[in-house]
Amino acid sequence: MQDKINEIEKSIDEAVKDVQSSKTLQEIKMRFLGKTGEISSLMKNMRDVPPEQRPSMGKLLNALREWTEERFDAIEKRIKDFELKKKYKEEKIDVTLPGRVTEDGAYHPNTLIRNELISVFAGMGFEIFEGPEIENDYYNFTALNTPADHPARDMQDTFYLSNDLLLRTQTSAGQIRVMENKKPPIKILSPGKVYRSDDDATHSPMFSQMEGLVVDKGITLCDLKGMLDEFARKIFGANVKTRLRPSYFPFTEPSVEVDVSCFECGGKGCRLCKGTGWIEVLGAGMVNRHVLEGCDIDPDEYTGFAFGMGIERIAMLKYGINNMKLLFEGDVRFLKQFKGER
Ligand code: DAH
Repeated sequence: MQDKINEIEKSIDEAVKDVQSSKTLQEIKMRFLGKTGEISSLMKNMRDVPPEQRPSMGKLLNALREWTEERFDAIEKRIKDFELKKKYKEEKIDVTLPGRVTEDGAYHPNTLIRNELISVFAGMGFEIFEGPEIENDYYNFTALNTPADHPARDMQDTFYLSNDLLLRTQTSAGQIRVMENKKPPIKILSPGKVYRSDDDATHSPMFSQMEGLVVDKGITLCDLKGMLDEFARKIFGANVKTRLRPSYFPFTEPSVEVDVSCFECGGKGCRLCKGTGWIEVLGAGMVNRHVLEGCDIDPDEYTGFAFGMGIERIAMLKYGINNMKLLFEGDVRFLKQFKGER
């Protein structure tokens, strides 16, 4: 038995000689001390030992087990210390290093204006409706009192996708979708992209509009004017005034072009307002009775006003941007200038 014990001790020494990780150590430990390990098997064999030899054998085996356990504990402690030191070394951070700077982004001027408009009109009780960008001829033109042979179709160079489908040229198309689905009182704001075959310093084939529509009993041009005054003060400044000029849109009657007093020179005349003291900002009018009728709204009972503006145009005016392309190029040097605006 003593031989067997010596042998086991020797093989333990051999096995742990080069062990580096606690995982391998654990495996070796199991080999000797595990349930079916070498020492445990020896202990099981005690059954076959004659009773008078059992006490002395038992002593020897217990001593072996204790020795083995102490041996493993000592090695385990050494390995753990080593592994911990290694981990500390690897995970060491130099707290004196300067921090990494993460650059803040900025809202795009279009987004800034859109959000500002939404917040101004939401404050007046408008709800948002977003119509589809691919429209059919009916919603974009016919239902807006612009039948196929109407000269006003020439005002907008349309991208057709098929005979009937097109990229909407105006968010006004959404007015019809709203009025078909909801009866008055209606008070909606409809932001979105629109498309026209047009391209220069102040026009782009894709741009954004903000449409508004109010329909209820007793709505008049006065309501439109009052709401526009509020809009102009909030967006361009507390002293800014509005004026209406007669205009033409097929879906409104009467139609108006809305100017705001020049917020740059206060109306005296400058480069921005081209010396006139006024700046055109949007189109509007009283919803044409044919349009209401087409949506099953009785024009003798209800009236409404609508307005539509170009978001890029408002952004260009407000931030003094002289070329519309800047709004679409994504040049970081341009966009950085809007940092902090919200
Ligand atoms: N849809 C017109 C355009 O794109 C703008 C417009 C004018 C919208 C008058 C309206 C309106 O709702 O009443 O030029």
